[in-house]
Amino acid sequence: MTGVGQPPLGTKPSCLKHSFDRHFYSELRTPSVSLTATPMTASHVQSSLRAEMPVAERWAYFDHAAVGPLTRAAAQAIQRYCGQVLESGDVHWPQWAADVEQTRAVAAELIGAQPTEIALVHSTTEGITMVSEGLDWRAGDNVVIPAGEFPTNIYPWLHLQERGVEVRQVKMPEIVWDYQRLADACDTRTRLISCSWVGYANGFRCDPMIVSQIARRFNAFFLLDAIQGLGVFPLDVKAAGIDFLSADGHKWMLSPEGAGLAYIRHDLLERLRPNIAGWNSVEGRFDFQNVQLQFRAEAARYEAGAQNMVGQLAFGGSLRTLRQAGLSANSWALAEQVLRSASYLTRQLVNLGAEIQELPEHVRSGIVMFQLPGHDPMAVRQKLLDAGVVVSCRAGRLRVAIHAYNDDSDFARLLNVLEGLSR
Ligand SMILES: Cc1ncc(COP(=O)(O)O)c(C=O)c1O
Repeated sequence: MTGVGQPPLGTKPSCLKHSFDRHFYSELRTPSVSLTATPMTASHVQSSLRAEMPVAERWAYFDHAAVGPLTRAAAQAIQRYCGQVLESGDVHWPQWAADVEQTRAVAAELIGAQPTEIALVHSTTEGITMVSEGLDWRAGDNVVIPAGEFPTNIYPWLHLQERGVEVRQVKMPEIVWDYQRLADACDTRTRLISCSWVGYANGFRCDPMIVSQIARRFNAFFLLDAIQGLGVFPLDVKAAGIDFLSADGHKWMLSPEGAGLAYIRHDLLERLRPNIAGWNSVEGRFDFQNVQLQFRAEAARYEAGAQNMVGQLAFGGSLRTLRQAGLSANSWALAEQVLRSASYLTRQLVNLGAEIQELPEHVRSGIVMFQLPGHDPMAVRQKLLDAGVVVSCRAGRLRVAIHAYNDDSDFARLLNVLEGLSR
């Protein structure tokens, strides 16, 4: 069987163009967000989300690209679940199951999908693996990914090499992608392009619509690892032409580790073979005496066994909080706040003499990478931690990952420490 729209081997459909018009790309770029040149002003988004983030009472928390803190609603959902299971075992199970379906519904809404296109997953890896292990690969097929992806978006593809699938890791310029290079790496045997929406080690935010256009031209699928963007940036999977998406909730979606979402475009459900089958995969799944391997019609067919119920209940709580603060498939409310803050921080860091990996506005995210000349990033990180400021180190630099609830007081704490060091 060939892939969706896959041309017969050795032929090159006339619609395939190997050289792309750069103008075509620039037309497709996401609109840039207008940023004020003045210091940050508190916005409604910032204050309403901050009120739901107890972490802000103690820490200036800037580590959302690693593991985000929980919203109040997520913590309450976990506490409620623990209380119920502690006192009553599974008596409340039907209510939990119904509430988990609400998580699915709000996750679908967040990305402009249908609930039937959402599988609830235990990690980004699991969602990517549904695709890597579920497609009907043939020896000689290839997968195209940008070089330097987080390992989650490398290993599932490398695992296919033993089946004769080539993994093409496309070297990109250090900061801003040259999309043409992705296109140049594709050919008639390219089955899929997979990339991160936002780079974990440089903060570059790609335009999914451009990547999907490239994939379309080669009749290839497009998978987006959305974990570093969802929760802040708007994404409409239909408008962006995304076939598959995966993201755990534990970063910008402010949820516990082990609970996230995968999107599988509805007409691809029949093309993606479930690589595990269990009681929860099938129609009539509660009819345990009547075993018939007929997969459920919807993306929940990939869930197979027990769900991470407590995690998914918490995930739902955080998604509702984010929605309440203004997040939707088409709203830039949170993104604007984050980009404004990132812009402000960048200017302050420049004033302090920091070396910054500065990105053009239209590809920025909540991640700001920098170095303080003459200072070991790990030592700086520790100094910050001692002062109640949480950041990470990645690729030899400090990584500040700003969410929409971070306010002036958080930035003052961060900059205070850095100023002391750079004197
Ligand atoms: C781009 C990207 N993808 C995925 C992950 C995590 O993958 P998983 O949810 O499978 O642990 C990370 C974590 O840092 C990441 O930065």
